[in-house]
Amino acid sequence: MNKLAVGNIKMNIISKIERDNYLKILRDKLKGKTFEETSIIICPPAVHLEYFSEKIKKGNIFWGIQNAHWENSGSYTGEISPAMAKEMGADFEIIGHSERRSNFGETNDMVNKKIFSAFKNNLIPIMCIGENIDERKSGETKKVVLNQILEGLKDLTKSKVSKMIIAYEPVWSIGTGETPRGEEIMGVRILIQKILADQFGLTIKQMPKILYGGSVDYKNAREVCLSAGMDGVLVGGESLYPDSFIKIAEILEDKI
Ligand code: 13P
Repeated sequence: MNKLAVGNIKMNIISKIERDNYLKILRDKLKGKTFEETSIIICPPAVHLEYFSEKIKKGNIFWGIQNAHWENSGSYTGEISPAMAKEMGADFEIIGHSERRSNFGETNDMVNKKIFSAFKNNLIPIMCIGENIDERKSGETKKVVLNQILEGLKDLTKSKVSKMIIAYEPVWSIGTGETPRGEEIMGVRILIQKILADQFGLTIKQMPKILYGGSVDYKNAREVCLSAGMDGVLVGGESLYPDSFIKIAEILEDKI
Protein backbone atom coordinates (compact mmCIF):
# COMPACT_ATOMS: atom_id res chain seq x y z
CA MET A 1 0.00 0.00 0.00
CA ASN A 2 1.65 3.14 -1.23
CA LYS A 3 -0.93 5.82 -0.68
CA LEU A 4 -3.73 6.01 1.87
CA ALA A 5 -7.08 7.74 1.58
CA VAL A 6 -8.52 7.71 5.08
CA GLY A 7 -12.08 8.89 5.72
CA ASN A 8 -13.09 10.05 9.19
CA ILE A 9 -16.87 10.18 9.16
CA LYS A 10 -16.92 11.61 12.72
CA MET A 11 -20.35 11.65 14.42
CA ASN A 12 -22.34 11.54 11.20
CA ILE A 13 -24.58 9.05 9.37
CA ILE A 14 -27.43 8.97 11.82
CA SER A 15 -30.21 6.80 10.45
CA LYS A 16 -30.29 3.33 8.95
CA ILE A 17 -31.57 4.90 5.72
CA GLU A 18 -28.56 7.22 5.61
CA ARG A 19 -26.24 4.33 6.37
CA ASP A 20 -27.65 2.17 3.59
CA ASN A 21 -27.59 5.07 1.19
CA TYR A 22 -23.93 5.74 1.97
CA LEU A 23 -23.02 2.12 1.34
CA LYS A 24 -25.02 2.01 -1.88
CA ILE A 25 -23.27 5.08 -3.29
CA LEU A 26 -19.90 3.83 -2.09
CA ARG A 27 -20.45 0.47 -3.76
CA ASP A 28 -21.55 2.17 -7.01
CA LYS A 29 -18.54 4.45 -7.01
CA LEU A 30 -16.18 1.54 -6.46
CA LYS A 31 -17.72 -0.54 -9.22
CA GLY A 32 -15.26 -1.39 -11.96
CA LYS A 33 -12.44 0.50 -10.22
CA THR A 34 -9.25 -1.09 -9.08
CA PHE A 35 -6.82 0.64 -6.84
CA GLU A 36 -3.32 -0.72 -7.02
CA GLU A 37 -1.39 2.07 -5.38
CA THR A 38 -3.98 3.38 -2.96
CA SER A 39 -5.74 1.83 0.02
CA ILE A 40 -9.03 3.24 1.20
CA ILE A 41 -9.72 3.25 4.93
CA ILE A 42 -13.10 4.38 6.22
CA CYS A 43 -13.71 5.11 9.90
CA PRO A 44 -17.45 5.18 10.53
CA PRO A 45 -19.08 5.70 13.92
CA ALA A 46 -18.43 2.58 16.00
CA VAL A 47 -22.08 1.48 15.90
CA HIS A 48 -21.87 1.08 12.11
CA LEU A 49 -18.50 -0.67 12.02
CA GLU A 50 -19.72 -4.26 11.91
CA TYR A 51 -22.43 -3.49 9.36
CA PHE A 52 -20.10 -1.57 7.05
CA SER A 53 -17.33 -4.12 7.21
CA GLU A 54 -19.73 -6.99 6.55
CA LYS A 55 -21.39 -5.25 3.60
CA ILE A 56 -18.28 -4.20 1.71
CA LYS A 57 -15.42 -6.61 1.48
CA LYS A 58 -13.06 -5.53 -1.25
CA GLY A 59 -9.35 -6.01 -1.59
CA ASN A 60 -8.14 -2.60 -0.63
CA ILE A 61 -11.03 -1.18 1.37
CA PHE A 62 -10.33 -1.27 5.09
CA TRP A 63 -12.20 -0.12 8.17
CA GLY A 64 -11.11 1.81 11.19
CA ILE A 65 -12.43 3.02 14.52
CA GLN A 66 -12.35 6.75 15.33
CA ASN A 67 -11.36 6.23 18.95
CA ALA A 68 -11.10 3.40 21.48
CA HIS A 69 -10.14 2.99 25.11
CA TRP A 70 -6.75 1.51 25.96
CA GLU A 71 -8.20 -1.31 28.05
CA ASN A 72 -9.83 -4.30 26.39
CA SER A 73 -12.68 -4.75 28.87
CA GLY A 74 -13.88 -3.66 32.27
CA SER A 75 -15.82 -1.00 34.14
CA TYR A 76 -15.48 1.86 31.70
CA THR A 77 -19.08 2.92 31.08
CA GLY A 78 -19.65 4.19 27.59
CA GLU A 79 -16.26 3.21 26.22
CA ILE A 80 -15.42 0.89 23.34
CA SER A 81 -12.38 -1.32 23.46
CA PRO A 82 -9.84 -1.90 20.71
CA ALA A 83 -10.48 -5.67 20.97
CA MET A 84 -14.17 -5.04 20.21
CA ALA A 85 -13.28 -2.80 17.28
CA LYS A 86 -11.01 -5.49 15.86
CA GLU A 87 -13.72 -8.12 16.25
CA MET A 88 -16.23 -5.86 14.44
CA GLY A 89 -13.99 -5.43 11.40
CA ALA A 90 -11.53 -2.64 12.16
CA ASP A 91 -7.90 -2.82 11.11
CA PHE A 92 -7.04 0.78 11.97
CA GLU A 93 -7.59 3.10 14.95
CA ILE A 94 -7.50 6.89 14.84
CA ILE A 95 -5.80 8.09 18.02
CA GLY A 96 -5.47 11.58 19.47
CA HIS A 97 -7.65 13.40 16.98
CA SER A 98 -7.67 17.10 17.87
CA GLU A 99 -11.41 16.93 18.55
CA ARG A 100 -10.73 14.28 21.20
CA ARG A 101 -7.86 16.27 22.60
CA SER A 102 -9.85 19.50 22.87
CA ASN A 103 -13.35 18.21 23.67
CA PHE A 104 -12.51 15.19 25.82
CA GLY A 105 -9.23 16.12 27.41
CA GLU A 106 -7.21 13.47 25.65
CA THR A 107 -3.56 13.93 26.60
CA ASN A 108 -0.35 12.74 24.98
CA ASP A 109 -0.08 10.20 27.77
CA MET A 110 -3.50 8.74 26.88
CA VAL A 111 -2.52 8.78 23.22
CA ASN A 112 0.57 6.78 24.14
CA LYS A 113 -1.46 4.16 26.04
CA LYS A 114 -3.89 3.88 23.15
CA ILE A 115 -1.09 3.32 20.65
CA PHE A 116 0.26 0.45 22.73
CA SER A 117 -3.17 -1.11 23.09
CA ALA A 118 -3.96 -0.70 19.38
CA PHE A 119 -0.83 -2.64 18.49
CA LYS A 120 -1.66 -5.30 21.07
CA ASN A 121 -4.97 -5.82 19.27
CA ASN A 122 -3.53 -5.82 15.76
CA LEU A 123 -4.93 -2.43 14.91
CA ILE A 124 -2.69 0.01 13.08
CA PRO A 125 -2.66 3.32 14.98
CA ILE A 126 -3.22 6.54 13.06
CA MET A 127 -1.86 9.15 15.46
CA CYS A 128 -3.08 12.71 14.81
CA ILE A 129 -0.86 15.65 15.62
CA GLY A 130 -0.91 19.34 14.74
CA GLU A 131 -0.87 22.86 16.06
CA ASN A 132 -3.82 25.14 16.77
CA ILE A 133 -4.18 28.67 15.40
CA ASP A 134 -2.56 30.42 18.39
CA GLU A 135 0.40 28.05 18.30
CA ARG A 136 0.75 28.64 14.58
CA LYS A 137 0.61 32.42 14.98
CA SER A 138 3.23 32.36 17.69
CA GLY A 139 5.53 30.15 15.59
CA GLU A 140 5.22 27.13 17.87
CA THR A 141 4.33 24.50 15.28
CA LYS A 142 7.70 22.73 15.58
CA LYS A 143 7.56 22.68 19.36
CA VAL A 144 4.01 21.30 19.42
CA VAL A 145 4.72 18.61 16.84
CA LEU A 146 7.92 17.58 18.63
CA ASN A 147 6.17 17.31 21.97
CA GLN A 148 3.21 15.36 20.60
CA ILE A 149 5.56 12.90 18.92
CA LEU A 150 7.93 12.47 21.85
CA GLU A 151 5.16 11.97 24.41
CA GLY A 152 2.76 10.10 22.13
CA LEU A 153 5.39 7.61 20.98
CA LYS A 154 7.20 7.25 24.31
CA ASP A 155 8.78 3.81 24.81
CA LEU A 156 7.64 2.47 21.45
CA THR A 157 10.13 0.33 19.56
CA LYS A 158 11.57 1.43 16.26
CA SER A 159 9.73 -1.35 14.46
CA LYS A 160 6.34 -0.33 15.93
CA VAL A 161 6.89 3.32 14.97
CA SER A 162 7.74 2.21 11.49
CA LYS A 163 4.43 0.31 11.16
CA MET A 164 2.12 3.07 12.37
CA ILE A 165 0.62 6.05 10.57
CA ILE A 166 1.03 9.69 11.55
CA ALA A 167 -1.50 12.26 10.39
CA TYR A 168 -0.48 15.89 10.43
CA GLU A 169 -3.73 17.78 10.93
CA PRO A 170 -3.28 21.45 11.77
CA VAL A 171 -6.26 22.19 14.01
CA TRP A 172 -6.94 25.55 12.34
CA SER A 173 -7.44 23.79 9.03
CA ILE A 174 -10.04 21.26 10.20
CA GLY A 175 -13.46 22.10 8.81
CA THR A 176 -12.45 25.63 7.82
CA GLY A 177 -11.69 25.28 4.12
CA GLU A 178 -8.20 26.65 4.79
CA THR A 179 -5.12 24.57 4.17
CA PRO A 180 -1.41 25.22 4.56
CA ARG A 181 0.59 25.65 1.37
CA GLY A 182 2.13 22.52 -0.14
CA GLU A 183 5.64 23.59 0.95
CA GLU A 184 4.49 24.13 4.52
CA ILE A 185 3.05 20.62 4.66
CA MET A 186 6.23 19.24 3.17
CA GLY A 187 8.22 21.15 5.80
CA VAL A 188 6.28 19.46 8.60
CA ARG A 189 6.74 16.08 6.95
CA ILE A 190 10.50 16.65 6.91
CA LEU A 191 10.36 17.77 10.54
CA ILE A 192 8.46 14.62 11.57
CA GLN A 193 10.97 12.44 9.74
CA LYS A 194 13.86 14.23 11.38
CA ILE A 195 12.36 13.73 14.83
CA LEU A 196 11.83 10.02 14.10
CA ALA A 197 15.35 9.64 12.74
CA ASP A 198 16.85 11.36 15.79
CA GLN A 199 14.70 9.69 18.42
CA PHE A 200 14.21 6.19 17.03
CA GLY A 201 16.98 5.87 14.49
CA LEU A 202 14.57 5.31 11.62
CA THR A 203 16.00 5.42 8.12
CA ILE A 204 14.00 6.95 5.27
CA LYS A 205 12.88 3.47 4.19
CA GLN A 206 11.65 2.69 7.70
CA MET A 207 9.57 5.85 8.08
CA PRO A 208 5.87 5.42 8.88
CA LYS A 209 3.27 6.68 6.46
CA ILE A 210 2.68 10.39 7.02
CA LEU A 211 -0.69 11.83 6.01
CA TYR A 212 -2.08 15.33 5.72
CA GLY A 213 -5.53 16.15 7.11
CA GLY A 214 -7.60 19.33 7.25
CA SER A 215 -10.13 20.55 4.65
CA VAL A 216 -9.03 18.03 2.03
CA ASP A 217 -11.25 17.78 -1.03
CA TYR A 218 -10.75 16.51 -4.55
CA LYS A 219 -9.79 19.99 -5.72
CA ASN A 220 -6.83 20.37 -3.36
CA ALA A 221 -5.86 16.70 -2.88
CA ARG A 222 -3.12 16.89 -5.48
CA GLU A 223 -1.48 19.88 -3.83
CA VAL A 224 -1.81 18.87 -0.16
CA CYS A 225 -0.80 15.28 -0.79
CA LEU A 226 1.07 14.57 -4.00
CA SER A 227 2.88 17.90 -4.41
CA ALA A 228 3.65 18.00 -0.69
CA GLY A 229 5.22 14.54 -0.83
CA MET A 230 2.75 13.03 1.63
CA ASP A 231 1.69 9.37 1.76
CA GLY A 232 -2.01 10.12 1.83
CA VAL A 233 -4.80 12.13 3.35
CA LEU A 234 -7.13 12.04 6.34
CA VAL A 235 -10.43 13.38 5.12
CA GLY A 236 -13.29 14.61 7.33
CA GLY A 237 -16.23 16.40 5.69
CA GLU A 238 -15.66 15.14 2.15
CA SER A 239 -15.62 11.52 3.29
CA LEU A 240 -19.36 11.86 3.92
CA TYR A 241 -19.76 11.95 0.16
CA PRO A 242 -18.50 8.67 -1.30
CA ASP A 243 -18.29 10.14 -4.80
CA SER A 244 -15.94 12.94 -3.69
CA PHE A 245 -14.01 10.63 -1.39
CA ILE A 246 -13.41 8.02 -4.09
CA LYS A 247 -12.38 10.81 -6.44
CA ILE A 248 -9.73 11.81 -3.88
CA ALA A 249 -8.49 8.20 -3.83
CA GLU A 250 -8.29 8.24 -7.64
CA ILE A 251 -6.23 11.43 -7.50
CA LEU A 252 -3.81 9.78 -5.07
CA GLU A 253 -3.65 6.83 -7.44
CA ASP A 254 -2.83 9.40 -10.13
CA LYS A 255 -5.72 8.20 -12.26
CA ILE A 256 -7.48 11.54 -12.74
P1 13P B 1 -12.19 18.15 7.51
O1 13P B 1 -11.71 17.38 6.29
O2 13P B 1 -13.68 18.22 7.58
O3 13P B 1 -11.51 19.45 7.63
O4 13P B 1 -11.77 17.29 8.78
C1 13P B 1 -10.48 16.82 8.87
C2 13P B 1 -10.41 15.86 9.98
O5 13P B 1 -10.59 16.22 11.15
C3 13P B 1 -10.11 14.46 9.66
O6 13P B 1 -9.78 13.74 10.78
